[in-house]
Amino acid sequence: MKNRTILVTGGAGFIGSHVVRLLVNKYPEYNIINLDKLTYAGNLANVADVAESGNYSFVKADITDLDAIRKIFAVYPIDTVIHLAAESHVDRSIEDPLVFVRTNLVGTATLLQAAREAWKEGFSGKLFYHVSTDEVYGSLGETGFFTEDTNYDPRSPYSSTKAGSDHLVRAWHHTYGMPVVISNCSNNYGPYQFPEKLIPLFINNIRQEKPLPVYGKGVNVRDWLYVVDHARAIDLILHEGKHGETYNIGGHNEWKNIDLIKVICRTMDEKLGRERGSSEKLITYVTDRAGHDMRYAIDASKLQKELGWTPSLQFEEGISKTVDWYLENEEWMRNVTSGAYQDYYETMYQNR
Ligand code: NAD
Ligand code: DAU
Repeated sequence: MKNRTILVTGGAGFIGSHVVRLLVNKYPEYNIINLDKLTYAGNLANVADVAESGNYSFVKADITDLDAIRKIFAVYPIDTVIHLAAESHVDRSIEDPLVFVRTNLVGTATLLQAAREAWKEGFSGKLFYHVSTDEVYGSLGETGFFTEDTNYDPRSPYSSTKAGSDHLVRAWHHTYGMPVVISNCSNNYGPYQFPEKLIPLFINNIRQEKPLPVYGKGVNVRDWLYVVDHARAIDLILHEGKHGETYNIGGHNEWKNIDLIKVICRTMDEKLGRERGSSEKLITYVTDRAGHDMRYAIDASKLQKELGWTPSLQFEEGISKTVDWYLENEEWMRNVTSGAYQDYYETMYQNR
């Protein structure tokens, strides 16, 4: 389809900024509208390199504000929504669950409703693409993988609101016939990730020689994917995914937290020219996350077989690039860790 007008929600956040960058650069014939509330996690510096592009615009709005969203649909001829805006951090959802209910559930329903009203003449050429997480499937034991047929079993306030948002999207498809597609992805890492998440938090702490707070025994397992590969998968599913379908995205790249942390420590020692083993000395075991899911692992074979997607980067290369980016962008890190971040850090980690 030519000349699409795509509303990307959450485009000033971590993954959204990579999706916006890819679409703006790859499709000059599309108009990309980045809608973001600019919460603590939203940062226009994340998309500064595309801000002057002729096919890019930014709108500051809250996805829970129906009037504001209706106005945006009235002003722009939006035919596609890629919905990433969300409260995304599990630890914050444990401290303050209601904001997750509001943004992730009410916000998703608000967008669906505004899109349905705007598309009342018919759904031909329209698409609502919902970006979701593997956490909706719950927690795995030592073996097995999440497939698209795995039953939903979310266990944190964050994952249960994401599961609910997936159900809302499917409800608008089944009840109203809205063309939708959903993808559920594993843990992302890479440039522009807010340093509340494991990898940028630990890179930043190592740089400052601060303790590295490992939850529990460090034995939980996550399946890591370089964020640009997630954005590539979203691009592919946007153009070739079957409406009404769900696609799992993941890199078959499972790491026990403590093993991953040691890779980060070694990489940082090398890049900073510090004595080998010095970063590992910062490892500090702290009280576990409440309800901490043990293992996530994605079976992405549907996406690979049906649409031909494969991750482009090996993990060691991805980590090396990521560490380089954070070391070269100290100012970005300084800006996002000033002010409110300090309070967050103290509340979350002091006396843990
Ligand atoms: P993020 O926290 O970095 O960014 C979220 C963005 O949403 C921010 O720019 C924020 O300002 C915006 N936002 C929050 N509330 C809003 C509201 N009410 N109205 C408008 N904008 C609002 O998140 P992320 O890690 O980039 O995740 C993006 C999406 O991908 C989320 O839906 C998340 O559930 C999903 N996801 C994330 C991962 C991961 O590893 N980070 C993996 C799979 C899926
Ligand atoms: O699986 C996809 C999900 O991955 C996304 O949906 C979420 O938005 C995203 O935040 C991420 O969730 P996790 O909880 O897995 O990511 P986080 O980086 O917070 O933690 C990764 C692992 O590291 C997890 O087992 C908890 C642990 N951890 C995390 C932090 C922040 C620590 O041991 N210490 C820490 O300080």
